[in-house]
Amino acid sequence: MDLSRSAAAALDAADPLAPFRDRFVVADDDRLYLDGNSLGRLPRETPAALARVAEEQWGRGLVGSWSSWIGRATEIGDLLAAGVLGARAGEVMVSDSTSVDLYKLLVAGADARPGRDVLVCCADDFPTDRYLVAGVARARGMEVREVEAHIDEGLDLDVLAGALDERVAVVVLSAVAYRSGALPDLAAVTRLVHDAGALVLWDLSHAAGAVPVELEAIGADLAVGCTYKYLNGGPGAPAFLYVRRELQADLRQPIWGWFGQADQFAMGPAYDPAPGIERFAVGTPPVLAMAAVEVGARLVAEAGIERLAAKGRALTDLVVALADEWLVPHGVALASPRDAGRRGSHVSLAHPQAWQLTQALVDRGVVPDFRTPDRVRLGPAPLYTRFVDVWDALDRFRAVLVEGAHEACPTERSRVT
Ligand SMILES: Cc1ncc(COP(=O)(O)O)c(C=O)c1O
Repeated sequence: MDLSRSAAAALDAADPLAPFRDRFVVADDDRLYLDGNSLGRLPRETPAALARVAEEQWGRGLVGSWSSWIGRATEIGDLLAAGVLGARAGEVMVSDSTSVDLYKLLVAGADARPGRDVLVCCADDFPTDRYLVAGVARARGMEVREVEAHIDEGLDLDVLAGALDERVAVVVLSAVAYRSGALPDLAAVTRLVHDAGALVLWDLSHAAGAVPVELEAIGADLAVGCTYKYLNGGPGAPAFLYVRRELQADLRQPIWGWFGQADQFAMGPAYDPAPGIERFAVGTPPVLAMAAVEVGARLVAEAGIERLAAKGRALTDLVVALADEWLVPHGVALASPRDAGRRGSHVSLAHPQAWQLTQALVDRGVVPDFRTPDRVRLGPAPLYTRFVDVWDALDRFRAVLVEGAHEACPTERSRVT
């Protein structure tokens, strides 16, 4: 690979997704935003979309606007289903937070497998996933099997297979590992779990908008994910949940709220869940926040998930190649799968002083994030990150190491990055 800056500029010139960068607010071109990926950038359209809901619908329409708001969660869910998740209409809705949706689907899934008393999760998964599995297991008197996964390479299917038997009700896994970016074979994992008679619940937070997940094609049962990363829905944006159509009638979620009720405004005496995906709703949805999710979902759908994934692989390949050349000689190690087909759109780099390096990078206008125990995570989001941004960021990373600038940064973890 040609590692010159002009080669990176040539990749930008040939990039069919390059025009999408102008659809986002980039307040400072010199601030290289490679946060990986806790918060996507603000789409230019979003403030106007929020203002429309606030001024026209809320301000003028007042409570009468509920007639158009009431179906928004499933309408935006359908957009995500078709444009981002490879799911069918009526299988996705926007709702609550990722953690709350995970709880709802985990309990619903466990209830759907009576007589099975084990929940499986990955020991290296995102904390909220592990905590929720532990909490649900404790409340139900179930056992947790935590499958060990390689911190950099992700889940080994043979190890997962060893944890599956007729006692397992639900397996919770991330499609893209939050730290390393490792991407397992989603179809193969789903088959393995089904062979054991269990349900699989995917956390798509780091996958949605970055890699094709093809939920219908792989026969996925259940999934949740956030919309503030690659979907650019904004801070605190509501999450989405997916339930395969064929399972919906049999699943009941544990939070019996009136938005999940069949005939909601009849205000009936007893809970009688709606027949479709609406039964997984709980209470009044965040209408303003959903307007921002819709803008983000439309942008991803317009760009096309295959093109986004291809660019994500090319961007992260450049990170890896430049790290090999410039950073590895200074004690940095690749902490993500080397094969682009086995990772999402972020890469982690390990160094004993990763926390100090993260701060030194922020001081030089590069925004990565730190992940325990000793990782600098770089997430070049394909919708708006240029190849020259990656080149410049790695160049600044090299300079920090060469000059030892990180040595002067505090060692205690106090700053949020
Ligand atoms: C993989 C993963 N799962 C779950 C969550 C938690 O989501 P929420 O805070 O929206 O509940 C996050 C948050 O970053 C995440 O990265």
